[in-house]
Amino acid sequence: MIKIAPSILAADFAKLGQEVQEVEKAGADWIHIDVMDGHFVPNITMGPIVVDALRPLTKLPLDVHLMIENPDRYIEDFAKAGADYITVHVEACPHLHRTIQLIRSFGVKPGVVLNPHTPVETIQHVLEDIDLVLFMTVNPGFGGQKFIHSVVPKVAQLAEMVKQQGLSVDIQIDGGINEETIVSCAKAGANVFVAGSAIFGKEDRALALHNIKQAGQG
Ligand code: DX5
Ligand code: ZN
Repeated sequence: MIKIAPSILAADFAKLGQEVQEVEKAGADWIHIDVMDGHFVPNITMGPIVVDALRPLTKLPLDVHLMIENPDRYIEDFAKAGADYITVHVEACPHLHRTIQLIRSFGVKPGVVLNPHTPVETIQHVLEDIDLVLFMTVNPGFGGQKFIHSVVPKVAQLAEMVKQQGLSVDIQIDGGINEETIVSCAKAGANVFVAGSAIFGKEDRALALHNIKQAGQG
């Protein structure tokens, strides 16, 4: 079953609540929230206050993608604001196992994110502890970038590891996802897809969302 997580980074921030409700009505499965600090990535976006404001407006899981240095410092704030998933970059977490436990201690589902060049082996020993692995298929920092195809074999590699270990871990893809790029990732074993510009950049969000999901279901 393919899930679509529209990224609000591409939404109209002047009417964020309405934008989220529109994609919920259109059949979105999760809402993806991109948190950037201007240090880990060269852009600044939003903090827990936005998660808190959106929480009462939607029943969908809020999927918080932390592109920040020292994420441990903010995990409690995002948990209390209403995050359902918190994903942290392996590149930003020297004590990854501890960070994962910290996320879980607040009743939030933990996930780990890999930049395009980061090998799958870096998370081999925490796979049992997480609910979600997120593969970046662009360099994090901005929406609307071009999909990096060389990440797809990593997705297949992880899907195989997960299968061999008999685990149930969602495999998510983020960056440049549209009707075309979703196909190879879904075939490789991914089941959750973030899409920003390919949904919020379109006049008819419901149609865009439907077409992307259809393409992923094959
Ligand atoms: C990039 C963010 C993505 C971004 C995706 O750093 O993590 O979630 O919003 O945007 P699109 O779908 O436009 O590539
Ligand atoms: Zn993201």
